[in-house]
Amino acid sequence: MPEKLIPLTKSQIEKIIETYPTPVYIYDEKGIINSARRLQEAFSGISSSIFKNYFAMKANPNPYLLELLKREGFGVDCSSLTELMLAEMVGFVDKDIMFTSNNTPLEEFKKAIELNAIINLDDITYIEFLERHVRIPELICFRYNPGPLKTGNAIIGNPVDAKYGLTKEQIFEAYKIMKNKGVKRFGLHTMVVSNELNPKYFIDTAKIIFDLIVEISKQDPIKFEFVNLGGGIGIPYRPDQEEVDLKLISDGIRKIYEDKIVANELQPLKLFMECGRLITGPHGYLVTTVRHVTSKHKEYVGVDASMNNLMRPGMYGAYHHISVLGKEHLPPDNTYDVTGSLCENNDKFAIDRNLPKIEPGDILVLHDTGAHGHSMGFQYNGKLRSAEVLVRTDGTFELIRRAETIQDYFQTLNFPNSRFKI
Ligand SMILES: Cc1ncc(COP(=O)(O)O)c(C=O)c1O
Repeated sequence: MPEKLIPLTKSQIEKIIETYPTPVYIYDEKGIINSARRLQEAFSGISSSIFKNYFAMKANPNPYLLELLKREGFGVDCSSLTELMLAEMVGFVDKDIMFTSNNTPLEEFKKAIELNAIINLDDITYIEFLERHVRIPELICFRYNPGPLKTGNAIIGNPVDAKYGLTKEQIFEAYKIMKNKGVKRFGLHTMVVSNELNPKYFIDTAKIIFDLIVEISKQDPIKFEFVNLGGGIGIPYRPDQEEVDLKLISDGIRKIYEDKIVANELQPLKLFMECGRLITGPHGYLVTTVRHVTSKHKEYVGVDASMNNLMRPGMYGAYHHISVLGKEHLPPDNTYDVTGSLCENNDKFAIDRNLPKIEPGDILVLHDTGAHGHSMGFQYNGKLRSAEVLVRTDGTFELIRRAETIQDYFQTLNFPNSRFKI
């Protein structure tokens, strides 16, 4: 099996962790820029369409990375008040902000409208909610849930069981209501899959969406400005997997765009996506130090990161490749469970993983942790979130988020007469 490469030398990583101790997230700026450009290049030039990716900041909401992607021409996709405020802080404005939320509180809609963001409504009842409490925006988008037309996967769920979006009947009704309210600018969104490596899936989704636009336009004509195909393009977490061929997806979409949109004179229709994982996922590394190697009914490697730093393996059984720094070329002839220190038995980064012989003090690098990694962090067992470091294109490194401290943890507790000093 080919070894996954790390774009940093052992001594570079050692230098970083001397300054910012493990567990620590390290991001590779060059890799992120390359992924952003690869996506833009693949999708530019789909007939009359204009392409834009709204980076799903839930994947990695660090403002330094958002700023980097802003410079690359990306918009940003937000799903909460805090994320909208982060977008504002970084300088995203107006239609460079997509707001795709669900079960949305009023203050989030208020903020999205204040920022003049594109609002993507997750339910037909939100029309009345918006009108009553805020106002109907001039451009509106609805999230479509195609139900049995798509199967989804373990991460996002099966569309028929998923809490997101409007059914087909509701979609027709929703646009009609909005048209009657005088809205003239429309978009249509769907997101039915996550971490998908098969290009066909995205082409099929585009077909479903373009067909729906044609159907709506024939029944009760409105002018769609854009479609948003969501995120969900996968990355090769396992060494034997291959990168998604983006050109294959864009060629497939181009053909359907010609057949459906251009043929029905519905162009120009902008094409938006909300890819997060594809952009930052492969360029993040969670670096952690081995504390104990123990032997029970199985062999265990206990590291100083826990599931609170990276939840995906414990939550979805997700695979993250592990390199042992300086031992990459030794035979992987030991089988270990690699664990954190939470009092939860699913606090494991790997189960039955073949690795070289490991000793306390070894440095492990968990690959592909640049998306849905740090951002999914939590504080169970009083564990703290780690620092984030960005390695710039010139090889220098910069702290872009400090590690949480015990003081941070205690700050939210309004407990009187604390008997100890931190
Ligand atoms: C609405 C929405 N858009 C975009 C994304 C980003 O997905 P990914 O990072 O897999 O591209 C997600 C992920 O959960 C999402 O829920």
